[in-house]
This record gives sequence, C-alpha cells and structure tokens, in this order.
Amino acid sequence: MSAAIPHDDLCLAPLRGVTVRTFRNVHARWFTPPDRAVSPFLPTFAGAKVRLTLLRDIDPALGQSVPLVPQVIGKEPGELRTLLRAFKALGYGCADLNAGCPWPFVTKKGRGAGLMREAAAFARMLEAGCEELPGGFSVKVRLGLDRPGLLLERMEMMNGFPLREVTIHARTAQQMYEGSVNLDAFGAALAACRHPVVYNGDLRTPGDLSRLKARFPGVTRWMVGRGLAADPFLIERLRGGTAAREALRLKGFLDDYLTECEGELPGPAAVLGRMKELWSYLHTALEQGGRAWAGIKICHSIEEYRRVVDGEFERFSGFVGDGERAGIG
Ligand SMILES: Cc1cc2nc3c(=O)[nH]c(=O)nc-3n(C[C@H](O)[C@H](O)[C@H](O)COP(=O)(O)O)c2cc1C
Repeated sequence: MSAAIPHDDLCLAPLRGVTVRTFRNVHARWFTPPDRAVSPFLPTFAGAKVRLTLLRDIDPALGQSVPLVPQVIGKEPGELRTLLRAFKALGYGCADLNAGCPWPFVTKKGRGAGLMREAAAFARMLEAGCEELPGGFSVKVRLGLDRPGLLLERMEMMNGFPLREVTIHARTAQQMYEGSVNLDAFGAALAACRHPVVYNGDLRTPGDLSRLKARFPGVTRWMVGRGLAADPFLIERLRGGTAAREALRLKGFLDDYLTECEGELPGPAAVLGRMKELWSYLHTALEQGGRAWAGIKICHSIEEYRRVVDGEFERFSGFVGDGERAGIG
C-alpha cells in the first residue's frame, strides 16, 4: 500500500479527444487544476519501435502542467512492456492499464473491459506491468462486462499483485456511459480490494462528493471526467471554493484553448471537432447551454464558431446551479 494521502486526491479522468495535453495545460492556466491526471489511452502495438507521434500527448518535453499517469490499452504482455519502457525512457515511474473501455469492437478483441473476461490473460498483463514498474502500475476497471459481479470475482487475482491503485468506474461495460452508477456493487468491490481505490463515475458537484464521502468514508481518491469537461471550475468547487463562477474566466479559457488547438492540430476541421467535443459537455453546465450548443454544433468554420461563442458570452446568463440535478449517492 502507498502512503496515506492527506487530503482528497482529485484526479482528472482520461477522456479520449477531450482531456488531452493541450486541454490539461490550458485548463491549469485558468482554473484550479486536479492533483493529477490519467492520460487518454495509448494503444500497444506489435514491434519494438515506438513512434514518437504516439507519445506526443504524454511527452514531458512538450509541457505537462498536471502530474500525469500515462494510460495503456492492450492485451499482449510483451507489447505492454515495450510501451512501458518507452514511458520510462520519458521519465515516468507510473502507468495505468485500461481494463474498462466498453466499446464492443475493443472488448471483443480482449482489450479494455474485455481484459476482465479471462482471469489468466488479465493476470499476465498485471504481472508484466508490475514487473516493469514496481510500485507504479495501476489499473482502471469496470464493475464487469454485462453483470456487476465480475469485478468481485477478479479481485482475489488483482489482490495478488502489488498495484499502486485500482480505479473503479462504477458501471458495467454494457452500460457504456449511461444509466446510474451502481454504488452497492462499488461498495462490495471496495470492501474486497486490498489496494487503494479511486472512485469514478458521475461525480459532478460538491453535493455528489459529500454524499459519496458519507457513504464510502475510507475512499480518498476521486476521479472526475465529464463533470470537469462540463464545468471547468469543478476542482475548486470540490475543494470547497464558494466564489462565483465567472463567465470571463470561462471565455478566456475557451479563447486560449482554441488558439492552442489551432497551433497543434493539422487543420480547421480538427480544431472545430475538438471544440465541439468539449462543448458537447460544457453546454450542460450553462443556463442557456441548449441554445449555445444548437448554434455551435452546426458551425462549419472557425470564424463562424468564434461568432457564435462571442454572441453567447455577450448574453451570458449563468451556470446551472447545484440543486438543479438529482445527485448521486
Ligand atoms: C469521450 C470519452 C472518452 C474516454 N476515454 C477514456 C480513455 O481513454 N481511457 C479510460 O480509461 N477511460 C476513458 N473514458 C472513461 C472515463 O475515463 C470515465 O471512466 C467515465 O467517463 C466515467 O467518469 P465520469 O462520469 O466522471 O466522466 C472515456 C469516456 C468518454 C465519455
């Protein structure tokens, strides 16, 4: 077990196409950053040569404002070792294994949550990871594939490895990202797990965090994904901050993010795609978010996007309050 963490540890979830390096860095410039982040997954591959472009998201030389744990998706222990050695060459002492990706084309191949299907194959990946990164290897799982009890069945095997932590997204893979989190099944897995556990799933407001803490007082590590994409002020709010969320700060962040994406991505379509992906979450936290989203999702150029966003901020009417959604816990 690692040393106790003195305060709640707030970790940014990996969201492919959203919580990428540029997002993490620009977010940290404008808002209270999370304590750390797990990168969107990098796939293992056959062969010994690691393409540098594969590592761009996690490359420390390109700037990482938030302490980062790179994540891997794959099913071959040898390929996992190759990628973990590339991480080590960049200076990383930790990495996370994705055993939670729910897409059927991934799970059918035994990757992502598909790793949970067969205990022996899963164990071989954990063994390789723990050997390559002693004390630094972790795993992110679901409650199961089509039933929530599967994680519990795998726990004895997982307890046999010196994992740094286990992040549990409290849904089955079959649920994808929908339906409610299953806190009973999470609690059962938590009780059976000898590793530090990170709670993950639908944590979006300070109210959610206090309900979860009341129910699971032993948990001190929390992962937030879509909640932070929707509300970039989320970390300061979860830390107890009561200052009003300012439209100007949000606008400054969005302008900077757009500029940095233009510098990073190959063309306007990719930039627009990146901004729309973020707005697909962000709009849900804004009072007039539905109107904003309706305008933004049909933009065909960066200029049009800028016009729509500038217009929305001229008539900005606030953020959705805490009390407006039924919380979890
Ligand atoms: C668009 C998208 C991309 C995701 N990419 C990853 C990923 O690369 N690796 C991973 O472990 N989970 C990934 N997830 C799952 C999230 O990390 C997280 O487990 C899930 O969204 C539940 O947490 P939340 O309710 O706080 O968002 C992704 C989820 C979404 C919606």
